[in-house]
Parts: sequence; structure tokens; C-alpha cells
Amino acid sequence: MRILLKTDIERGDAWQKAFAEQAPDIDAVNWPFDGDPASIDYAAVWNMPSDEWARYKNLKAIFSMGAGIDHLASDPKRPKHLPVVRLVEPGLTAGMTEFAVWSVLSHHRFIPEYTRQRQARLWQGHVQIAPYDRRVGIMGLGVLGSDAAQKLAPFGFDLAGWSRSSKELTGVKSYHGAEQLPAFLQRTEILLCLLPLTDETRGILNARTFAQLPKGAAVINLARGEHLVEKDLLAALDSDHLSGATLDVFEQEPLPQDSPIWDHPKVQMTPHVASMLIVDSTVRFFVDNIRRFEQGGDLSPIVDFERGY
Ligand code: NAP
Ligand code: GLV
Repeated sequence: MRILLKTDIERGDAWQKAFAEQAPDIDAVNWPFDGDPASIDYAAVWNMPSDEWARYKNLKAIFSMGAGIDHLASDPKRPKHLPVVRLVEPGLTAGMTEFAVWSVLSHHRFIPEYTRQRQARLWQGHVQIAPYDRRVGIMGLGVLGSDAAQKLAPFGFDLAGWSRSSKELTGVKSYHGAEQLPAFLQRTEILLCLLPLTDETRGILNARTFAQLPKGAAVINLARGEHLVEKDLLAALDSDHLSGATLDVFEQEPLPQDSPIWDHPKVQMTPHVASMLIVDSTVRFFVDNIRRFEQGGDLSPIVDFERGY
């Protein structure tokens, strides 16, 4: 059995070593592959060049090399008859939760403000806000959003989440659907976006959304760059309606050299690293799925392209 791997960041032979340890019968080959394309049974990909798909005639399923599948949803030549499995594994979830907790705590404790003050050699404290007086709102309460919510809850924040369907999560007020979005936004001082990118969520972090947040709110986008209208964010920061932002993802990646975001004093930014692939646990996820499928069981979780995630 053979799996083709196309990732965003080069890991040398780390994938091959992990497959050799966990499943010596599965031959893992890196893309680009110059062997016989008909010998490939499975493909685990990130941003596969669209024209490549036609070469792999015997594929049984596609794995997304990430939780998000927008790179496959927007690919006109993705073989539509094949199931697509998105990445849901504990290492990826833990990585995102670390980043989400860090970014919420950072805005809660005024770290971006203190970073700016340090540059100006300004010694000045901001009145500390008790966590129960801090209203944190998470857009998207799926695998990643609900884990982040559960890890933020013990800090004592006044937590809420917004999703398509209503949720019951201990310590998290649930808002759902377009009708409840305004109420969710009006109560949210630190907004964390962990939505998938779909036709409904593209551009959702826009001027209208920011206007509904209370003055001084902070926005954190760890999901996809296309959720955010960057010029609307910059306008809301420059008018002092928003106090700050943490961005891991951008409309265009890598962020263009001439983007004003690089130098914006109210923006903390990282280069799409909020949660990166952990090789061992990702391989375990692929191997478990392949074993189950080969024995007549189901792949999981399968993407619903009608729903968009
Ligand atoms: P998921 O389990 O599919 O959860 C998606 C959540 O969004 C669900 O709660 C869903 O509501 C909600 N949702 C979807 N469409 C909505 C809409 N129109 N209105 C309101 N809520 C909506 O996804 P996940 O695994 O948590 O991943 C979320 C995203 O994180 C990925 O798609 C990816 O883009 C991003 N990500 C980024 C990084 C990074 O390094 N920056 C790493 C991993 C993932 P229901 O629960 O009601 O269905
Ligand atoms: C990364 O962005 C992912 O979707 O896992």
C-alpha cells in the first residue's frame, strides 16, 4: 500500500520514519513523486497543484494535511468521487489550544499595550480586570473552538461561543445562527475566530462585525485569512474602536512585503503557525483511518462539501 504526502513545510524523512515505525506495510512517499502514479492508494495533501490529480488513477481517498479543507473545496480538479478526510487529531487540537489560550491571555493582560509602551520606555500599568468581568467570545465551537473554550473556562472568563447549531458546553454560553450573531458580538470583548472558511463565513470579520463589538475589544484570527477584511480591521484599529488584534492567517500568504500589517503597532502577528502538523500523531491518524477503511469500516471525519466543512 502506498500513500503520497504533500505538506507545506519540508520535514525531510520524518514522515517515512513515522510510517516505518507505525505501519511498515504502508510505503509513504513525498510529493513530487517520480514513480508510477498508478501505485498511489491514498494522498495526504496541502495545496496540491490542481493538474496533478489526473495522474493518480487508483486513489481510494484523500486526506487533508490540515483541519481546514478550503484548499480542496476551492480546487476545481479535485476528484469529486473520492471521500475527503480532514485532520482531527489530538496533537493539532492541543497546538491550537495553546495558541488560543496564549492569545486570549495576552489581550486580557494588556501584553500588546505593554510591548508598545516598552518601545516608548513608558512605565505605566493598566488596571487588571478580573476574569469573570472579561467577556471572551469564540466564533466556531467545533473540534478546535470547543477545546479552546474548555481550556479557557478554568481561568474563570465570562465565556460564550457562536456556532451554526446550539451547544451545551460547561461554562460557555451558546449563541447560534445568523440571528444570534449580533447579541454574541455585543457582549464580546475578546473575539477569537476558529471558524472554517465557507461561503457563509468568508469576510465575516468585517466593519459591520467590528462595529457591533464594544469599544476597546480585541480580535484574534487563527482560522483563515479570508475570514478577515484586513482594511476594515486596520480602520477599526486606527479609529481606536478596537484596541488590538492577533493574526496568524492573512488574505494573502506569505503576507506581502508592502502590507501595513507588518508595522502596525496594534497587531501581533505570526506566519500561519498557530497549530502545525505533529508528525507522529498525524501518521497515527492516517494509519488508523487506512486500517479501518481497508477492513471495510468508515473513514472519519469525512468532509461534507455541501455544508462546506
Ligand atoms: P470544525 O470542527 O468543523 O468546527 C467548525 C465550527 O464552526 C463548528 O462549531 C460550526 O458549527 C461552526 N460554523 C461553521 N459554519 C458556521 C456558520 N456559518 N455560522 C456559525 N458557525 C459556523 O472545525 P475545526 O476543526 O474546529 O477547525 C476550524 C478551522 O480552524 C479550520 O477550518 C481551519 O481553517 C482553522 N485552522 C487553522 C490553523 C492554523 O494554524 N492557523 C490550524 C488548524 C485549523 P456547528 O458546530 O454547528 O457545525
Ligand atoms: C491549518 O491551517 C489547518 O487547517 O490545519
